[in-house]
Amino acid sequence: MNTIIDKIRSEFHREANAIKDLKDLEPLRVKFLGRKGLLSTSFDRISELPKEQRPLFGKALNELKKELENEYQNLIKQFKAKEEQKRKLDLTLPGRRPFIGGKHPLLIVADEIKDIFRSLGFSIEDGPEIENDFFNFEALNIPKTHPARDMQDTLYVTDDILLRTHTSPVQIRVMQRQKPPIQMIAPGRVYRRDTPDASHSPFFHQVEGLVVDEGITFADLKGIIQAFAHRMFGEDVKVRFRPSFFPFTEPSAEYDFSCVFCKGRGCRVCKNTGWMEISGAGMVHPNVFKAAGIDPETYTGYAFGMGIDRIAMIKYNINDIRIFFENDVRFLNQF
Ligand code: PHE
Repeated sequence: MNTIIDKIRSEFHREANAIKDLKDLEPLRVKFLGRKGLLSTSFDRISELPKEQRPLFGKALNELKKELENEYQNLIKQFKAKEEQKRKLDLTLPGRRPFIGGKHPLLIVADEIKDIFRSLGFSIEDGPEIENDFFNFEALNIPKTHPARDMQDTLYVTDDILLRTHTSPVQIRVMQRQKPPIQMIAPGRVYRRDTPDASHSPFFHQVEGLVVDEGITFADLKGIIQAFAHRMFGEDVKVRFRPSFFPFTEPSAEYDFSCVFCKGRGCRVCKNTGWMEISGAGMVHPNVFKAAGIDPETYTGYAFGMGIDRIAMIKYNINDIRIFFENDVRFLNQF
């Protein structure tokens, strides 16, 4: 009696396991649970058993029937869920593009600047953003009384340690460790105590340039700046130098590029001057050479600064420096 029950159960399981499709479930139901199925016909054979075994067998069959009906319902549920999933999975749909990051516009411009100077024979140097007073001011011939040293302009960590206010300290670091000829640029972040507005940010980015050798002149400086302007903004860009003052260069100048938007005719961007201010430059001051251990009688050199943010703003026609540091993906995705 029990062997019949077990046989039906294991046969049901064997066949159920082999089923791969919803439509194959119905034959399973017919074979086991149908009106002429294995369970029904077993019920019919109860009369063949001795009287005292009939109730027990009937009970066992009933329980098996419930058990298999339950399992059958579960199978239906399983297969329906699978079908549903298959219907949702449309293999003809185009795939989802993975979201990939990109280079920040300032990095793109910094890379471009580096490429240009590398092709002109410059090495790329690096220096710390947390500097000593010596490298940021003292060695650059910036006297104790200079306004840049004021707490109002510089972010100090201690009396002697500060966040560098320009990339010029890298000049000193490189001259201390390397004998001339030196021909280097040093891109990096700098810090100043400024209240943020469209053209000021408490941190921004500069590229320092330094060339030291025997017989270097101001004409070499002009040539390099001109070559850079042409490669960065095109052959028709003009460069002009205006006399200026920096403690670490003598003579000193500020240099401008003709406005790339109006070609020098005058527009809103260049405030009708036709020129865009870029940064400062000049011949290395003898005191700077002395502080860095280079003989000013033998060597001369020039140095220049360059604002990466400023150049990026010109290149992409951006009128607010703060947008670089907000990390708004709608802005960043455009590059
Ligand atoms: N360090 C100067 C500044 O931050 C720029 C500069 C660099 C000027 C090199 C002259 C020579 O404004």
